[in-house]
Amino acid sequence: MNLKQIAAERAAEYIQDGMKVGLGTGSTAYYAICKLGERVRDGLQIQAVATSEASDKLAREWGIPIIPFDQIGRLDITIDGADEVDPDFNLIKGGGGALLREKIVAANSDQLIVVADGSKAVDKLGRFPLPVEVVPFASEWTFKALESMGCSPEWRMNGDERYLTDNGNLIADCRMEAIEQAPELNIQLNMLPGVVDNGLFINMANIVILAKEDGSIDELHR
Ligand code: A5P
Repeated sequence: MNLKQIAAERAAEYIQDGMKVGLGTGSTAYYAICKLGERVRDGLQIQAVATSEASDKLAREWGIPIIPFDQIGRLDITIDGADEVDPDFNLIKGGGGALLREKIVAANSDQLIVVADGSKAVDKLGRFPLPVEVVPFASEWTFKALESMGCSPEWRMNGDERYLTDNGNLIADCRMEAIEQAPELNIQLNMLPGVVDNGLFINMANIVILAKEDGSIDELHR
């Protein structure tokens, strides 16, 4: 089993009969969805919402009942990956482009469990480029505004085309190197017209499960 799978499967143990569950996106959340799929096949009764088209498809393939977000109500637990986790449980997410739906689903969950291999733990956020989701209208204007803020944006590409999110928006990956004031930056970015949301998840994670190279698991609770 690889480290991502170990962390994800530990998180899946938190899910019990009757729960409403948020399904994250990415190569670590993938294993959590597969494990929950196995458990559903064995009789686990849950309802779920997915944070991306890819996770929606995977969950349906496993027979996990997927409910539209606006019909499911409050979620008990969301399990999702992260690109970076700092000691205050603040995160960078969105390497897979699903940050907007991930943040909405996390905000509607009683608990957010973050699953990752140990390499995602950092002292300070920012070495991983911070994804910022931008509406296509006036996107060059928004890009320049991000440059003026010192964010060093680069459009995410999909071959020769600009990458498009499940919401039809663009992603500007911001190479900040080190983010000194993540809560403030989160607010500043989201106040910029044209920005839909950004990959900083501040004060959202409740549990962080990190699988480490030596085979141990760090399970941290806030
Ligand atoms: C998806 O948009 C992301 O937020 C992922 O959860 C994050 O990039 C972690 O992905 P991996 O689990 O693939 O590293």
